[in-house]
Amino acid sequence: MYDTNEAKTAVQNDVKFHCSDVQVYYGESHAIKDVSIELLDNTVTAFIGPSGCGKSTFLRCLNRMNDTIDICRVEGKIDLDGEDIYDSRVDPVQLRARVGMVFQKPNPFPKSIYDNVAYGPRIHGLTKNKAELDEVVESSLRKAAIWNEVKDRLHAPGTGLSGGQQQRLCIARAIATAPEVLLMDEPCSALDPIATAQVEELIDELRESYSVVIVTHSMQQAARVSQKTAFFHLGVMVEYDETTKIFTNPSDQRTQDYITGRFG
Ligand SMILES: Nc1ncnc2c1ncn2[C@@H]1O[C@H](COP(=O)(O)OP(=O)(O)OP(=O)(O)O)[C@@H](O)[C@H]1O
Ligand SMILES: [Mg+2]
Repeated sequence: MYDTNEAKTAVQNDVKFHCSDVQVYYGESHAIKDVSIELLDNTVTAFIGPSGCGKSTFLRCLNRMNDTIDICRVEGKIDLDGEDIYDSRVDPVQLRARVGMVFQKPNPFPKSIYDNVAYGPRIHGLTKNKAELDEVVESSLRKAAIWNEVKDRLHAPGTGLSGGQQQRLCIARAIATAPEVLLMDEPCSALDPIATAQVEELIDELRESYSVVIVTHSMQQAARVSQKTAFFHLGVMVEYDETTKIFTNPSDQRTQDYITGRFG
């Protein structure tokens, strides 16, 4: 039913994130229950599941974006390359440079295209001079497959681009700090099919250098771009496996029901 790219299934890549017994609470409400998962390097992992099951909540645990939500509490252990990201010595701002994020709605800063991409490298002091910064901006825009469309108007506002271009600009901004992991929360939901195809192609290329985690409501998209898939339901991670397996022969009835459209 789904066209999965089986040939590209990752062979024994390194573990990037090791998460054990993760719980997330919003006040009294228990939104993520006992999630343990290993996310691999050079792999695209898709998070799927019905609305409200906790996909975004769990994704935000991975770069401590939940820290910004007052009533949110995260428990359990999340290691990135063997180091606990919730250790009090970890600076969440530095962490977010290593673990970049792209949101559902393109959110360019009210700045020029150039300054959007230069933002991260500037605040983290990643470049020594203007020439180096120019280079990072250009290479990030190239990797995000938008350089040709914007190279003659780098100083025009980022908000003046089309939705699909804005999303690719946000991807360029996220990769400008040379992150190791890229988290994408429904990155194509505001895009037309052409822009979606461009972003999907880009995700496939990014896998060569990064670990990518993508939340999507499109099962076709999950099947096309990911090698691993995790299915969430009611705050629980029901099943995590090779994408091909999840979409052709899942182990759990709930996964089966979801991928065949019986609920969600
Ligand atoms: N800021 C918040 N404050 C309180 N509860 C929240 C907050 N964000 C999410 N929740 C609750 O946590 C649960 C999981 O929500 P989450 O946004 O992670 O789901 P999701 O799987 O990403 O859904 P969707 O597919 O609709 O984006 C839901 O019950 C939601 O109402
Ligand atoms: Mg969500």
